[in-house]
Amino acid sequence: MNYLLAFAFFVGIYHVRTADDFDLPDYMHQCDLDSKVFQKCVREEIEKSLPHFTKGIPKLGVASIDPVDLDDILIDGNGLKLKFTNAQLHGLSKMKLSDFEVEFADDNEKFNLALVANLSLTAKYNADGKILILPIKGDGDALIKCKNVEVEIASKLSHVKGDSGEHFKLTVPNYKYKIQSTNFDLKNLFNGNKQLADTTIQFANQNWEQLMDELAPPVIKQIVKTIVKTINKFFSKITINRMVKGYKKSS
Ligand SMILES: *[C@@H]1O[C@H](CO)[C@@H](O)[C@H](O)[C@H]1NC(C)=O
Repeated sequence: MNYLLAFAFFVGIYHVRTADDFDLPDYMHQCDLDSKVFQKCVREEIEKSLPHFTKGIPKLGVASIDPVDLDDILIDGNGLKLKFTNAQLHGLSKMKLSDFEVEFADDNEKFNLALVANLSLTAKYNADGKILILPIKGDGDALIKCKNVEVEIASKLSHVKGDSGEHFKLTVPNYKYKIQSTNFDLKNLFNGNKQLADTTIQFANQNWEQLMDELAPPVIKQIVKTIVKTINKFFSKITINRMVKGYKKSS
């Protein structure tokens, strides 16, 4: 028993000392680069792992991304001042992989993935001005629901040397997004004047695309940053050799 404890302690220390050499979580498996189905293997591993991965891996210091605390969002222009504070994004743990490509060409290693999810944003809002033609004024709770938000992230795959071997790192990510539809619910508009509020909300929902042209970019930017940061945290803890069998870097 004491030996077991001592061993557990030793293993614990060992892991702290070489903090970049963890095993894959049990729901993930290594893919073989020499196999014909390598792409498919990685894709399936990602699909299978997403629901777990997005909830965090405490052992690796990988934080949950559902919910995500967002920085304040401020829209100020075209006659509208709209601010969201205490914003949180919900739903990333249910995201699905809609496209995936990994490439290990010598001079061009890339990692592209497209993710789709139904997302909702909760926040305190403060609005004053006009949305398009209708006045809007108020502050209170906001709930914004977006259906099928698809984000395509294209990254270069760089390498970082750790104590235990090489690690992947996503760098220079480019991204684009599309949203199928959006529904706004802003409580306490016009000091609770329901008639005015309903008219404005209805109008906002009919013109969601114009509103989202302003609102979505700062949110999507934070989503991409969070996802890339989370994947890189994971990569920094697990060597390439533990993820990819038969991987040889030529340079
Ligand atoms: C989003 O919700 C709709 C139902 O409103 C569903 O059909 C769709 O599959 C969901 N999308 C995702 C990515 O889960």
